[in-house]
Amino acid sequence: MRIGILTSGGDAPGMNAAIRAATIVALALGHEPVGIRHGYRGLVAGEFVPLDALSVADILRSGGTFLQSARCPEFQDPAVRTIARGVLTEAGVEGLIVIGGNGSLTGALLLTDPQEAGDWPVRVMGIPASIDNDIALTSLSIGVDTAMNTIVEACDKIADTASAHDRVFIVEVMGRECGYLAMTSAIASGADMVLFPEADRTEEQLVESVAEAVLAVRQRGGSQKVIAIKAEGIETPTDRLKELVDQELSRRSVEQPSLVETRVTVLGHVVRGGRPSAFDRLLGGRMGNVAVRSLVQGANREMVAWQPPIDATDEVGRRSMHDPYCYLMPLDRVIEATRELLDGQSPLARWRATIFDDLEDVFLL
Ligand code: F6P
Repeated sequence: MRIGILTSGGDAPGMNAAIRAATIVALALGHEPVGIRHGYRGLVAGEFVPLDALSVADILRSGGTFLQSARCPEFQDPAVRTIARGVLTEAGVEGLIVIGGNGSLTGALLLTDPQEAGDWPVRVMGIPASIDNDIALTSLSIGVDTAMNTIVEACDKIADTASAHDRVFIVEVMGRECGYLAMTSAIASGADMVLFPEADRTEEQLVESVAEAVLAVRQRGGSQKVIAIKAEGIETPTDRLKELVDQELSRRSVEQPSLVETRVTVLGHVVRGGRPSAFDRLLGGRMGNVAVRSLVQGANREMVAWQPPIDATDEVGRRSMHDPYCYLMPLDRVIEATRELLDGQSPLARWRATIFDDLEDVFLL
């Protein structure tokens, strides 16, 4: 079987581990892996590259993606997908592994939609990779662990300088509409508070909660540094939030308002880069292995999931025969559940938001 492999959308550390595993497992099983550069954009342009054990030998340790990636909004156009099908057929590709996030997996689903593709015989398997952890029916996507470690390391450094000056830092972290990275890295770094879109707070409430945290730390005594982690998905821009917090603190006439200094750090794309953690290498490797073995055994329009939430296991998907921690989830259900997760409607979204209501007071102790 000729198996195409592509990475699409935002890169995530650990994508290379998935490419490498998919390549060498395919070869070991007697199949022919072929890389497609620049995601769907490269697919449409026919950017195929041969893959062998040697070409992927040294990629495991690197962040980014050796096959490179691209955003490809054009893929929403059915005519562009028709071109992509033609390119794959022409190249003799019989199976495709798509490594990427929500948009990339949606592309995989549409590419193989029977209503649009008819009896086009190419099968597709998805591997979730996105630092945002915004893909449903898998507890983790490739890249999340490394991104979280990067944020925690950055916050440790910020905490040093914040302590030295008794300053308040608002640290913005990536995650698109999803607050997962902000929430988990706030716990792991020992931040004083976290702001994320799932809590659905008004701008006033956001300002109020940061000001409250600052005042609580001032009253508590001891270290006067404050670290507030803010998810990128919060609509109020971080600079504006800082201004409003400063105004609110002055308004509340803190004992010595001039001594409350706030600073902003936007971590941005730093969060997405860097060498993948051991866990992301393992996750990528295990998902790549399961994707290839499932594909050659006939799987189609499914995504490899890592330890899905308990209510999303057997009744939605099936346990992989090749790895007890992996499940195969139908891609259409993944996309539907992801929409609900991002709309804040799914039980998981509600759980993620409410657990932090409980934690809010604990953070400041
Ligand atoms: O989806 C991953 C992600 O890094 C988001 O956290 C972020 O909002 C977005 O991609 C940035 O995209 P780009 O690299 O295209 O600017």
